[in-house]
Amino acid sequence: MQIIISTFFVLALMQAPELTSGDQDFGYDGVSGPLHWGERYRECAGKHQSPININVLRVKQVSLPDIQFVGFDDSIDGVHVTNNGHTVLIEVENEPHPRVRGGPLEGDYVFSQMHFHWGDNDTLGSEDKINHRSFPMELHMVFFKEEYKSPQEAVKHPDGLTVLAFFYELDRHYHPAYDDITAALGNVTELHASVTMDHPFSFLNILPYDLRRYFTYRGSLTTPPCSEVVIWLDFEQPVRLAHDQIEAFRELRSAHGKIKHNFRPIQPIGDRVVFYNIDNSYFNYNEVDDPDDDVTTQRPSRRKHGRHNGAIKNKSSVAIISVVFLAVCYLLK
Ligand SMILES: *[C@@H]1O[C@H](CO)[C@@H](O)[C@H](O)[C@H]1NC(C)=O
Ligand SMILES: *[C@@H]1O[C@H](CO)[C@@H](O)[C@H](O)[C@H]1NC(C)=O
Ligand SMILES: *[C@@H]1O[C@H](CO)[C@@H](O)[C@H](O)[C@H]1NC(C)=O
Ligand SMILES: [Zn+2]
Repeated sequence: MQIIISTFFVLALMQAPELTSGDQDFGYDGVSGPLHWGERYRECAGKHQSPININVLRVKQVSLPDIQFVGFDDSIDGVHVTNNGHTVLIEVENEPHPRVRGGPLEGDYVFSQMHFHWGDNDTLGSEDKINHRSFPMELHMVFFKEEYKSPQEAVKHPDGLTVLAFFYELDRHYHPAYDDITAALGNVTELHASVTMDHPFSFLNILPYDLRRYFTYRGSLTTPPCSEVVIWLDFEQPVRLAHDQIEAFRELRSAHGKIKHNFRPIQPIGDRVVFYNIDNSYFNYNEVDDPDDDVTTQRPSRRKHGRHNGAIKNKSSVAIISVVFLAVCYLLK
């Protein structure tokens, strides 16, 4: 009986998502590295895994409804920064949590946690790539579908999570909104260390300016158990940070020394389509200009359109003239 219970317990632990526990037995090198995750966590060998390379020539352009970022410009108190041995987690204590809706999402998604992925040096570190380009760091803001009540329940559903992903790019200047994060990092270099931020924290301050252009696709958690439950939104415009601000993340330590890198290599895209959302007010603007124009195509089709109308008009004039001609013939008979 005890064996059954402990087996059940171990199985339950293995199901725990990255959001709840930082103690899974996985790493980024050697026998515990990404190439071996699939041996213990079946889903890591799945067909719809993340991260992926996004080939900009293969994306499908779409114009989705606006995303609503609720509570992103609030000043939030009681924000915790924690080293879980794989990354640094930023969590919000007090309700209500920020949330997102709109875009490709059905329903509301509530903030769960955010964390970062980085590399040994500034030439690599992001998880998703764009045209095989790596960025030095990537931010993941994880949200769970409100309908499922908790992140633990949400990971059992294919639309359970959405992750807003932001890339970083090097800049000569410091990004002042990141000072509080880098200050906190200095206090959580040891495994399981946690601090509460000194100042209120605003989501919007750490994000890029353009939140309208993004790629979206269906994928997975990028850490074991690699559950295929994530609607990914990868924002195109990177956040610009100074080298020293990125370097501060590389000081964090796991049980095995400094966390020098914590990104998973790209996975096969398989049969998936990546959608590229273009600001739809751009199209609305053009539509006002010429309401007849086809939104998805450019001038050549407009000309085709015109010729098509011309042909119809000529056919109907031919028809009217024929009817009048026949009527006159009939009357004259
Ligand atoms: C950056 O790190 C990678 C992985 O360790 C290494 O292959 C590459 O040579 C490094 N690049 C530079 C410029 O140091
Ligand atoms: C972290 O440590 C520094 C001193 O090195 C201190 O100024 C700061 O207030 C500490 N706490 C946080 C949350 O940053
Ligand atoms: C339609 O008829 C006009 C004359 O009424 C002519 O100039 C024009 O070329 C015609 N268009 C087509 C598509 O046949
Ligand atoms: Zn992540």
